[in-house]
Amino acid sequence: MRRSDINRQIEFAKGFAASHARVLPEWADWSIGDYEGRADVASYLHERHMGWDITDFGSGDFARRGLVLFCLRNGIQGRSHERPYAEKMLVVNEGQETPFHHHKVKLEDIINCAGGNLMIEFINPSHIDEPITVRSDGIPIALAAREPLRLRPGQSVTVERGIAHRFYGEPGHGPVLAWRSVKSMAIKTTTFSPTMLDASRRSKKTRSRSVLCGTSCVLSVDLVMHSRSQGIASWI
Ligand SMILES: [Fe+2]
Repeated sequence: MRRSDINRQIEFAKGFAASHARVLPEWADWSIGDYEGRADVASYLHERHMGWDITDFGSGDFARRGLVLFCLRNGIQGRSHERPYAEKMLVVNEGQETPFHHHKVKLEDIINCAGGNLMIEFINPSHIDEPITVRSDGIPIALAAREPLRLRPGQSVTVERGIAHRFYGEPGHGPVLAWRSVKSMAIKTTTFSPTMLDASRRSKKTRSRSVLCGTSCVLSVDLVMHSRSQGIASWI
């Protein structure tokens, strides 16, 4: 992605959020100069990976596989005085996939706040073909492996630790404004496999350029392939 593409995605996300009465912190609009002028705040945000995060997951095709995130709150794992939770805004376009991954540490709620429908599929990595039950707003929903759960605006789902999931906006229903509330967010060991669905090319470790940064943050995330699962990335 080019810098201009990233900026365009950020501008769209800000406008989309505003159109649904979501107002972001002031540093969502800060320029590089603003950050340089507030080094203390910039350091705080940088250390917690707060701010814009635009990724194509290494696909080279943002429209097909990509995600716009804005991290509003986050902590640093292992520090008792830090937040044990994180909160992120997501903008998911129609058919735009966030690929299968699971979290070793995090328990997350994914909430469809507004816009189109968010489609989420689940797999238990230990039993990839077996049915799975998730809770949507506390209501148990039984699903076949990879059967999409449709989250309409106002609905949410809790993703238990270790359960692999992927999501995308349902085609024909417009972009989705989603929120992700996360318990226990890791910072320095986030992992991601850019070739997660291509097991034949998997190796133990690699790096990827798949995390691309917005105006207001500079992320440096180690992207480490998952060495065990069936092509499912493991994110802390
Ligand atoms: Fe996730």
